This record gives sequence, structure tokens and C-alpha cells, in this order.
Amino acid sequence: MRLKEARFFYDLITAHELTSILELGFFHGVSTAYLAGAVQQVGDGHVTTIDLTTAMQREPNIEEILTTCGLRNLVEIFYESKTFNWRLMKFLEEEPRRSFDLCYIDGGHTWVDTGFAFCLVRQLLRPGGWLVFDDIPHTFRTSSNRDKPWVLRMSEEEQVIPQVDRVFSLLTLKDNGFDTFRRINRLGIARKRPDSAPSSPAALFVETQVCAAAHLARTDPALRHRLLQQPARVLSEVSGQEERLFRHVRFAESTLWSPLEPDLGENGILTHFLEKPEWDKSISEESLLELMHD
Ligand SMILES: C[S@@+](CC[C@H](N)C(=O)[O-])C[C@H]1O[C@@H](n2cnc3c(N)ncnc32)[C@H](O)[C@@H]1O
Repeated sequence: MRLKEARFFYDLITAHELTSILELGFFHGVSTAYLAGAVQQVGDGHVTTIDLTTAMQREPNIEEILTTCGLRNLVEIFYESKTFNWRLMKFLEEEPRRSFDLCYIDGGHTWVDTGFAFCLVRQLLRPGGWLVFDDIPHTFRTSSNRDKPWVLRMSEEEQVIPQVDRVFSLLTLKDNGFDTFRRINRLGIARKRPDSAPSSPAALFVETQVCAAAHLARTDPALRHRLLQQPARVLSEVSGQEERLFRHVRFAESTLWSPLEPDLGENGILTHFLEKPEWDKSISEESLLELMHD
């Protein structure tokens, strides 16, 4: 995990006061340390993390990284011989069952591992909990593992298709039980709907169009401006559907790098928050205003 993603997680965890985090795939434990640091900031929380038994041999390994950072006591580490999905089965068997505020999936990157992890994690997330996939565009053909025998044994399709992306687009974005979808850099994000939130095909359709529009607006200041001013019109343009479907949708700007949960007003208006855009760190507010007026 790089600093950019760490900042995203810090905002997500502290803004929503997430205290119970599940991480699938920790490698050396760098991401685990960032997550634990954010949880420490919130207060009484912890991180549960799972990787393969081989991760013990890494130099440095997760134990060393966390101990150096003074965060070891906030993290429960599990090592599995084949897959984190095995440990998730154990979690599902527990009574009472543990539940998580946030699950971060960053291991395996295959349709099978990540897709099955999604199905299992769906049961373990609390209503209103967040799900984040890392490496959405990952392909085995372009990865550092491309010349490894186990990658070369994959079919051509398996090597070139971004498999995490397929999980996000074919499973998560089609799942009525989730909302607040975002694609931010290499991350795919969704929130498990709170029990109180409407869960209908129409609500899901609106959510996916909001995701598409917010994604375009991340790199397009003029579109972002229009989305804030004329949400229904822009959503209609993006989706090719009638404006009336989006009459109840508004957008507001947020100062965070991560999404905020949408706000459903008593009048039925659903306000989505646009997180900080790509250009925010590179150009000044003045130049941005100039761009918008052009
Ligand atoms: C990209 S690295 C994780 C990086 C880490 N999250 C970070 O940002 O610092 C992927 C990790 O997933 C682990 N992994 C891959 N497939 C797995 C599986 N099926 N079950 C458990 N761990 C797996 C690998 O051992 C590796 O350590």
C-alpha cells in the first residue's frame, strides 16, 4: 500500500469511526500498519489480518513491522496454508459470529479467490460496513509474477482479464445489498446497505450511475461542477436514461479522500458526497475556478 491509499483508508476509518477491520492479504504488513494506525486514532479498535503461511518468512515480516510501529497489540494475525477463505469459513462457524466495519481485500487477485472472498465477507460485514478491493485493474500478464510457472500455466484469458475488476463489476455492483460504489485509482469501494436503507433494483441502478458519474468527475473539473449544479441532467447523460429517475439525487463536496455514506433527507432527497478529486493536490483552487469558468 502506498501513501496515497493509506490516506484514503485513514479518512475512511476515522470519518466513519470504523473499529473492526478485516484485511485479506498483508504481505509484509505495511498496509496492516496503516490500518492499525488509523484504528488507533479512532480509539478502541483492532485489525484482523490473514495471509499464507509463507508470509512468516518475509523479510521483514508482519510481526517485525508492527512491533517496530508499536501497533502489534492492535492486530490479530492468521496464517493459512492455502487461502484466507478457509479462515473465513471458521469465522462463519463461530457463535457469536464476529462482524467487521471494513473489509479490505488485497490478495490472490483471481476470480476464484476474490470472488469467493466477496461472498464470504458479505456475511461478515455489519450493515453499513465498507468493502474495499485493491488492485482492480490487476492482470497476471502485466504483474511481477508474469513469468512464474503458475502464471504461465493459466489460460490466455486468465492471464489478460483483470479478474478483481470482474468481481467488482459482475458481483458487487450488481448486488442490491450494497450502495455508495466508487472506483478511486486502483480501489473499488462499496458499502453494505444499512438495514434501514431502501434496497430495490431502482436504488441499485441509481447507485451504479452515481458511481459512473463520480468516476468521470474525478478527472474532469467541468463535469464535477455540472454534477453539483445539475445532478439529474448529468446522471441522465451518463446513463442514457430519463432525468426523472434521478430527481431525488443531489451531490455535495466532501473534504475527504474517501467516500462518505450518502445522506437520505426527510424529504426523500438522497445526497451523495463527492470525495476530493484527482487534481486537488496538483493545482490551486484559483486555477480550478478558472478551469470551471472556461
Ligand atoms: C499484494 S500483496 C498484499 C499487500 C498488502 N496488502 C500491502 O498493501 O502492503 C498480496 C498478498 O496476498 C497473499 N495471498 C495471495 N493469495 C492468497 C490467498 N488465497 N489466501 C491468503 N493470502 C493470499 C500473498 O501471500 C501476498 O502476501
